[in-house]
Amino acid sequence: MLKAVLFDLDGVITDTAEFHFQAWKSMANSIDIDFDREFNEGLKGISRIDSLNKILKYGGVLEKYSDNQKMALANSKNAEYVELLSELKPDAIYPGIKELLDTLKMEEIKIGLTSSSKNGPRILDKLEINHYFDTVVNPALIENGKPAPDIFLSAAEELGVKPEDCIGIEDSESGITAIKDANMFAVGVGTEEVMEKAGADLIYKHTGELEFSGLLHSFKQT
Ligand code: G6P
Ligand code: MG
Repeated sequence: MLKAVLFDLDGVITDTAEFHFQAWKSMANSIDIDFDREFNEGLKGISRIDSLNKILKYGGVLEKYSDNQKMALANSKNAEYVELLSELKPDAIYPGIKELLDTLKMEEIKIGLTSSSKNGPRILDKLEINHYFDTVVNPALIENGKPAPDIFLSAAEELGVKPEDCIGIEDSESGITAIKDANMFAVGVGTEEVMEKAGADLIYKHTGELEFSGLLHSFKQT
């Protein structure tokens, strides 16, 4: 029985995935590493430090940077990202999300945030939707980031529900893998090819197609 819906943030609730792309690209270019959208696809859902390590490895310079230098690079990326967030307003919430949150509340289905971003609470504040969430998992306390299932399992535990009674919604390959490995129903929003490869149970091209009755219907069929 459906008891909770767990939302990823960047690329599901709003377009901050684009801000992450811009900030990483600018950091990578500043140390002469090429950075394109195809490579960026593999960073979605991945924590700040793991993303940085992937970028440095991609540029063939992973061993050249000390931990302190890496910290400085991660901080500079985050500073640029936070600067981009200053533009964020409630009207930036993706279509269909607010309606879905309202219906979930009405149906007494619990709502969780399962984002790897340490900026998650700040973004919910800016979008003025933090009051919808029964739990916002703190990614700093999660040992294994996505694609490991830990953040989704932790949300279920915090909400006091069983994993099989949860739906997870994600836009990244790593996120869908994490949901499936947590034994939850995975809804993918994005490119069909990417979502299918990752094993999503239900795929939508845009959040505007997300709708409670459709989700519930597909969930019940599994
Ligand atoms: C999300 C995004 C990633 C980002 C990660 C950490 O999972 O999809 O692109 O790297 O969060 O975000 P943070 O705001 O903590 O750097
Ligand atoms: Mg995402």
